[in-house]
Amino acid sequence: MSVKISPSLLSANFFDLKADIKRLEALKTDMLHLDVMDGIFVPNISFGNPVIKKIKENSNLTLDVHLMIDRPHRYIKEFAKYADILGFHYEAGSDIAETLKEIRNLGCKACLTIKPKTAAEEIFEFLPLCDMVLVMSVEPGFGGQSFMPNSLPKVTALKKEIQAQGLKCDIEIDGGINGETAPLAVKAGADVLVAGSYLFCDKMEERYNYLKSL
Ligand code: DX5
Ligand code: ZN
Repeated sequence: MSVKISPSLLSANFFDLKADIKRLEALKTDMLHLDVMDGIFVPNISFGNPVIKKIKENSNLTLDVHLMIDRPHRYIKEFAKYADILGFHYEAGSDIAETLKEIRNLGCKACLTIKPKTAAEEIFEFLPLCDMVLVMSVEPGFGGQSFMPNSLPKVTALKKEIQAQGLKCDIEIDGGINGETAPLAVKAGADVLVAGSYLFCDKMEERYNYLKSL
């Protein structure tokens, strides 16, 4: 099966989100990646549920919500109203198993995310509760950073463990994905590539098709 692409809205034109979302719809992108930052778990603040609600009401893209917020369990019910895939960080201070179960009970796909310094092995026990895991290939908080190659062996280790446990769980990678790093991520076993600054430019269509061809 071909690799899935989740363009990150963080690099879109926030003065004309509608136009950028229409471009993604024309490309029939697999997903739309939505980065929610609270200024506490990460040193940046982005956008929240009012924006996601409007996108859900006006588009049929699959919404892949990446929560970068402290104690995310406090907000799962709210975000589950509009997310299709709802992900939170292993390091963010919520009960992992309970939060993953709650996401599934609310009808969303559950995603557990790890920062660059967290070992893949730390989340092996939670894989049966995950529909997707997200390996960060930059420190979360900002678009346009350089890819961290130490994320690649983590993707491969997770792939191996998912197969060993006989699970159906996608591996997503996020941060610094571009024409050079994307093939490495796919080779390591990534099923879903998040791309922000690489895609949101006048070459979006050409670059999206290139990523899909990997
Ligand atoms: C960073 C976000 C990413 C970001 C990726 O914390 O999680 O999704 O938008 O941006 P690029 O693709 O530019 O590294
Ligand atoms: Zn993200």
